[in-house]
Amino acid sequence: MKTSDKHAGGGNSGGNVPIPLSRPVITEEDVQAVAEVLRGGWLTMGPKVEEFERAFAQAHGFDQATAVSNCTAGLHLALAVLDIGPGDEVIIPSLTFVAAANTVVAAGGTPVAADILSLETPHLDPASVRERITPRTKAVMVMHYAGYMMAPEPWDALRTDHGLKIIEDAAHAPLAPGAGGIGDIAVFSFFSNKNMTTAEGGMILSRDERLQERCRLLRCHGMTSTTTVRHNQPLLGYDVTEPGLNCRMDELRAALGLSQLSRLPAWNAERGRLSDRYRSLLAAALPDVRVPFTPDHPSCWHIMPVLLPKGAARDAVRLCMRGLGVQTSMHYPPIHMFSCYSGMPGSEALARTQEFCEQEITLPLYPGMADSDVVRVVAALGQALASSRGESGGSA
Ligand SMILES: Cc1ncc(COP(=O)(O)O)c(C=O)c1O
Repeated sequence: MKTSDKHAGGGNSGGNVPIPLSRPVITEEDVQAVAEVLRGGWLTMGPKVEEFERAFAQAHGFDQATAVSNCTAGLHLALAVLDIGPGDEVIIPSLTFVAAANTVVAAGGTPVAADILSLETPHLDPASVRERITPRTKAVMVMHYAGYMMAPEPWDALRTDHGLKIIEDAAHAPLAPGAGGIGDIAVFSFFSNKNMTTAEGGMILSRDERLQERCRLLRCHGMTSTTTVRHNQPLLGYDVTEPGLNCRMDELRAALGLSQLSRLPAWNAERGRLSDRYRSLLAAALPDVRVPFTPDHPSCWHIMPVLLPKGAARDAVRLCMRGLGVQTSMHYPPIHMFSCYSGMPGSEALARTQEFCEQEITLPLYPGMADSDVVRVVAALGQALASSRGESGGSA
């Protein structure tokens, strides 16, 4: 994935320059922050990681955070510190990234798929989750689809009624209102297409100090002291109290993360403004294209999902848009449709997920995208829909 070395704002409209699905914003400050670490000589798990953890925790209203190598590693740790293992079931949405199922399987557990609420609110449906609870159910993994926040109340009720743990996959939701506060433990992603990036990276939030402490232990092989501490206390050794992994974050990424975090509020706001622009243009030009969630739903607007009219030839639409210089994607191919997860428990009744996934395409959205690019994307979508229906024109 390419980076832009300035916060462009100028967009791609000066001709037929392709409009990418997403584009990380890398500023000169980011470059300087990483270069400074390289010149300093301490490359991993040092003061920058600690500073990044403190800043991210504080920005989300938490006392502490644990930086990790990526969100998937964070989900592995979350499952481990909640003692999820062989024989345990974890209920997940099928409408999410496959890391949800993969990490449960890697822990030795069984992922169980549940349906979404509706096409308008494609969040995990608490009623569908309740139908799938068995004596083996240990946890539910919820996900703030597209950066739109899930309501906390149903998950609090599940915790109280069934003693379930809630794992919050907050990959899409840094600085979304209330992010990190729904789960017993929450994990964020800083992959290069996310709202802020460290190229690869992730962060764990939890108000449970014991969970955080155990995440820190397991993040570094289960060792009871870190390299930094031993650097300052040369005779200090370490014990290994349980088998851990290497899920550490390095100083370069932490420096980049700190620099990115300082601009995240402005970037999220810009994503929100661009999403509103999409909503009004689509409502005026293509009213049969629906946008999930209401415009006032609390969000950090990670991506721009839309639902094509029923029966639209999605592949043809996407190909045509590609030809017009507009990159699109799908969020997500549902997990139960992958060959590896075909027939997964719960997948026999996922009608709303199925319908959503058949109609969804994701449009470009990133800070620095010009309003004229949004106009171009909506026009391309109109043209693609018209041509997929065999019409000659199709203006938007
Ligand atoms: C919803 C969701 N969960 C988890 C992940 C995994 O994140 P990472 O690439 O940081 O491991 C992603 C990444 O795209 C994601 O979108």
